[in-house]
Amino acid sequence: MVKVVICGAAGGIGQPLSLLLKQSDLISHLALFDVVNAPGVATDLSHINTGSRVTGHGKEGMNEAMKGAHTVVIPAGVPRKPGMTRDDLFKINAGIIRDLAEGVAKNCPGAFVLVISNPVNSTVPIVCEVLKQHGVFNPKKVFGISTLDVVRSSRFVSEIDSSMDPRATRVTVIGGHSGVTIVPVLSQIPGQKFTKEQLDTLTHRIQYGGDEVVKAKDGAGSATLSMAFAGARFTNAILEATVAGKTGLVESTYVNLSADPESTAAFRAKTGLDYFAQDVEFGREGVAHIRPLPHLSDYEQALLDAALPELKVNIAKGTAFITDNSKI
Ligand SMILES: NC(=O)c1ccc[n+]([C@@H]2O[C@H](COP(=O)([O-])OP(=O)(O)OC[C@H]3O[C@@H](n4cnc5c(N)ncnc54)[C@H](O)[C@@H]3O)[C@@H](O)[C@H]2O)c1
Repeated sequence: MVKVVICGAAGGIGQPLSLLLKQSDLISHLALFDVVNAPGVATDLSHINTGSRVTGHGKEGMNEAMKGAHTVVIPAGVPRKPGMTRDDLFKINAGIIRDLAEGVAKNCPGAFVLVISNPVNSTVPIVCEVLKQHGVFNPKKVFGISTLDVVRSSRFVSEIDSSMDPRATRVTVIGGHSGVTIVPVLSQIPGQKFTKEQLDTLTHRIQYGGDEVVKAKDGAGSATLSMAFAGARFTNAILEATVAGKTGLVESTYVNLSADPESTAAFRAKTGLDYFAQDVEFGREGVAHIRPLPHLSDYEQALLDAALPELKVNIAKGTAFITDNSKI
């Protein structure tokens, strides 16, 4: 029995993400939780002829939805409107994430928790702190899904250099998941010869790709379809590793660095950061290994230097939301 819960399943991301995950043969029960319209979305999806059972859980149904879950994916909350930064979302989404993390601690403390809700730089620390307060924190099992930055990178480089296959070109994206904290390591793409101008264009597009969508949707929300694609890719990788036992799967993802204390000790000592996005190898328990930082060009080192102060503030804000303000 592999039960996967989507929290915020009736939303712009939640619906297409649920549709994509309904196609997974590794999931036996897809539980859709949302404060609105979850039963409708669940009934619709339940007619698709794949193996998983689908259930819908409304406002009062969080505990039932989460009971015994293997994996909890969280795209619940509000998306950005034009002019809002991811950090502006903090006040609304922080409370939602805290309550959902509490639900995880009570109903499925051993579950893998995959956080999509922004600002990821802060919402992941919130989840970790709640789980710590309940004594059930395992850093190998909590992930911020920054895969959309990776997906965008692969696509955008192929638009500049058509010899690069967007499906096959893997780009490591380190740092965090908002604006300047997103650091694409384009120098590691085999055979790349980007000019300084191309690097500037690509880096800006990857860091602010979300703004492109917010602006184009003109008040109707942020990235949903591309995010659902990225979220399904990441969730499937976690399931392949943890359920099917597949080895060698690697994704850039935002994690608590104590998930691999040995590999990250020097970096933590140097930067003082407890959370960071980096290439992570998955295993049966979730994080198997956090890879050391790739070699950075001078250009990328400057991007990382610019990212660290903001990342530090974002992490402190998420952590303090639980440790200072809202004792459970
Ligand atoms: N990680 C990323 O790369 C990335 C990309 C795009 C968007 N996002 C974030 O994902 C989140 C969702 O975006 P969206 O466009 O799907 O928004 P949306 O408003 O369309 O959907 C959010 C859903 O969450 C539900 N919800 C709200 N509070 C809830 C609660 N307490 N419990 C369960 N469900 C709840 C809402 O009813 C709604 O259906 C936002 O925070 C957005 O910023 C992240």
